[in-house]
Amino acid sequence: MRVGFIGWRGMVGSVLRQRMTAEKDFDGLACAFFSTSNAGGSAPDIGHGPGLLLDANDLDALADQEVLITCQGGDYTEAIFPALRQQGWRGVWIDAASTLRMEDDAVLVLDPVNGDAIRQALVDGKNTFIGANCTVSLMLMGLSGLIRTGQVEWISSMTYQAASGAGARGMRELVQQMRQIGVESAHLLNDPATAALTLDAQVSQTLRGDSLSTDQWGAALAGSALPWIDRLVDDGQTREEWKAMVEANKILGLSTPLPVDGLCVRIGAMRCHAQALTIKLRSHIAMDEVTTLINGAHEWTRVVPNAQADSVTHLTPAAVAGSLNVPVGRLRKMKLGPNFITAFTVGDQLLWGAAEPLRRMLGILREHKG
Ligand code: HSE
Repeated sequence: MRVGFIGWRGMVGSVLRQRMTAEKDFDGLACAFFSTSNAGGSAPDIGHGPGLLLDANDLDALADQEVLITCQGGDYTEAIFPALRQQGWRGVWIDAASTLRMEDDAVLVLDPVNGDAIRQALVDGKNTFIGANCTVSLMLMGLSGLIRTGQVEWISSMTYQAASGAGARGMRELVQQMRQIGVESAHLLNDPATAALTLDAQVSQTLRGDSLSTDQWGAALAGSALPWIDRLVDDGQTREEWKAMVEANKILGLSTPLPVDGLCVRIGAMRCHAQALTIKLRSHIAMDEVTTLINGAHEWTRVVPNAQADSVTHLTPAAVAGSLNVPVGRLRKMKLGPNFITAFTVGDQLLWGAAEPLRRMLGILREHKG
């Protein structure tokens, strides 16, 4: 199979290559690497010998591939995808960007949740497969076992989203901000007698002062939280918040829409998104049963006991970063009523939230093609 990669150098593309190397996915593929800026340069080493980068804007070179996988971003998709299809390319387009997600012909890929629909789409001749929004994918990875019962009436998701969701520069600026806070408060921290309020005053001064780099975030993210992600769409909702319901429902393929809504908040985590969920059930389900349903969904989700040590050890961005596990914890009935439960879930935004569904889509395609 001839597979072309675009946007392989960025963060999601790099994680995709790491995962493909770890799983030996490159074996048996004829890979071409494309570049928007460095055609003719050296292709990355995937153990297939040296190669040269092709021009990512050369439609003929792209059309030579049976499969194109892009992590290059929405602007690239917008510019290239319609032109490629228009000139008759019928190959499989696998994309991380949001541009095509809500197109009728596009299938959102998250195979532990909608693997059957993906396989059917291939049988039906569909050829546009798009990774979903990271918070949506991570929420469904955690909750699909419960949602499949049909007993979930609605979900409210309050997110704690990592810097990586906004790109590499955002991660870098977060750490720069952390350093700045540390540097400017070091003299106080070094003295054990410093009062906490004195330390706080210094940190606040750094967070609000001119020394802090805020080019990416527009404000302090370290030592703070930013309750706004992406642009305003409608009714005071941000685009990140809008995606939750439309994309979740598209993946789940439900006949009656499942309402999903909440606030999306950026926090100073590096690459794991967390979400606090309020789930309204249609009927009472015992908590043991909820646990069994969540655990039974697939191999990557496990319930963390609702206990302090387990929660702070296993249910945090720090614990989950770099792992394919999507733990779900803090599960309990709420005082709001017998059919309300709460949960907290964490997942790596670069893995199941971005690269892994694309990697696995390629695997499903290979199986389909035999
Ligand atoms: N929009 C997400 C975020 C990134 O900003 O965290 C992945 O979909």
